[in-house]
Amino acid sequence: MTDKYTQFVSRGPGKDLARRLGLPQPVALRRHQPGRPLLEGPVLVQGHTTGADDLAATLLAWNLDVRRHAVPREKLGAIVLVLDGLARPEDLEKPVLTAAASLRDLAPNGSVITVSRTAAGADGPAAAAARQGVDGLLRSLAKELRAGATGNGILLSDAATTTSPSALGALRFFLSGRSAFVDGQFLTVTSGAGELPADDGKPLAGRVAVVTGAARGIGAAIARTLHRDGATLIVVDVPAAGDHLAQVANAVRGTALQLDISREDAGQRIIEHAVARQGRLDIVVHNAGITRDKLLANMDQGRWNSVIAVNIAAQLRINEALLASEHFRTSPRIVSVASTSGIAGNRGQTNYAASKGGVMGMVRATAPLIAAHGGSINAVAPGFIETEMTARIPFATREVARRLNSLQQGGQPGDVAEAIAFLASDAAGGISGEVLRVCGQNLVGA
Ligand code: NAI
Repeated sequence: MTDKYTQFVSRGPGKDLARRLGLPQPVALRRHQPGRPLLEGPVLVQGHTTGADDLAATLLAWNLDVRRHAVPREKLGAIVLVLDGLARPEDLEKPVLTAAASLRDLAPNGSVITVSRTAAGADGPAAAAARQGVDGLLRSLAKELRAGATGNGILLSDAATTTSPSALGALRFFLSGRSAFVDGQFLTVTSGAGELPADDGKPLAGRVAVVTGAARGIGAAIARTLHRDGATLIVVDVPAAGDHLAQVANAVRGTALQLDISREDAGQRIIEHAVARQGRLDIVVHNAGITRDKLLANMDQGRWNSVIAVNIAAQLRINEALLASEHFRTSPRIVSVASTSGIAGNRGQTNYAASKGGVMGMVRATAPLIAAHGGSINAVAPGFIETEMTARIPFATREVARRLNSLQQGGQPGDVAEAIAFLASDAAGGISGEVLRVCGQNLVGA
């Protein structure tokens, strides 16, 4: 969908007018394109711990242009602020203010990434305070960045180090254009699980993936992105969407399964189709979802029940079948689509927000169950994404909703797809039970 406002303020008189009136001036985001370099410009790694040294050495081995000290007025593609040795809040000052001096040199669409430890693992209140402080610091900094730049953080839990596979996987994701619309977010990584791909262009090579609700919108974008990353696709949607589903299946050279996911036997049908056609099943993306908006005072049983049935009850039932199946045992990955409505709430969406909050609760509680099979489960919570669903929002409400995030624009279906492709990859094997928001850092609500 065209964002006419962004077009108007990006050139000529519109640009001058917006600048004079102090209106939002969203910039075109630097999204991932195969073959494009990971970064435009050097990466400054700040911090004086062994973890910072190790990370800088790894980035050098990736052939990035690494700086350990800022060079005055040199434009930077990224600043990585390693804070893995914090013992008390006073320890923040030196590394944070040193990084602050380089912020003006961050290139448009650059990124600031913190690497720190989870507060939960701290031995004592002072260390927990310092670690939790990084949360507020990063989220505020992300709101100060301009020109498409983003700020995100990696939280190391238990024995994870700055060079654990999933810490590096998350770092690559946050440095790259794959996370262009992810802003102000943290990913917690554990040690052990996870593996960087042999071929960074095809991280899902050899994997078989199912995407539900794939006939259009975000689901179709997920199917295309997983296909680009090397996966073999099975696309699922209701029989009424059969024609569109067949088109998507053809485009990604996959197979189509016409299925209402709220059927009792949906999980079994998915497994049978995957095993019969592809001989295996590795990744399931629960994307299918519906809205039936009404103020709660006017809510009826039909609207309430259909949303709960499709958006969460179906996912629970399918996961039960997957976890019980012998065919879903090789580093299995589940990624569910939630929504920022399930975090911050949204007027007229009590049923939808209950279902999407449910997705997040389900993901956290399923993580230990799938870990028993060496797998992971995570959710992605999109904010305002330009789709047919959001095109139906009345003009004025839509225009406001688009601007109310740090990047001052709506996301694209591909932005959600990139986050899902990352979480479905082995690089994210040490990330589980997490909810990653793809919302440009929504300014309203949580
Ligand atoms: P959409 O309405 O364009 O596509 C949803 C697809 O799911 C459709 O093809 C539909 O036929 C299919 N579907 C619905 N019920 C189904 C069922 N019972 N069985 C099988 N397939 C079924 O929606 P959109 O915008 O692409 O959203 C995709 C997901 O992203 C949904 O879970 C939605 O809640 C979520 N989301 C979307 C946001 C947005 O801004 N568009 C924001 C936050 C979350």
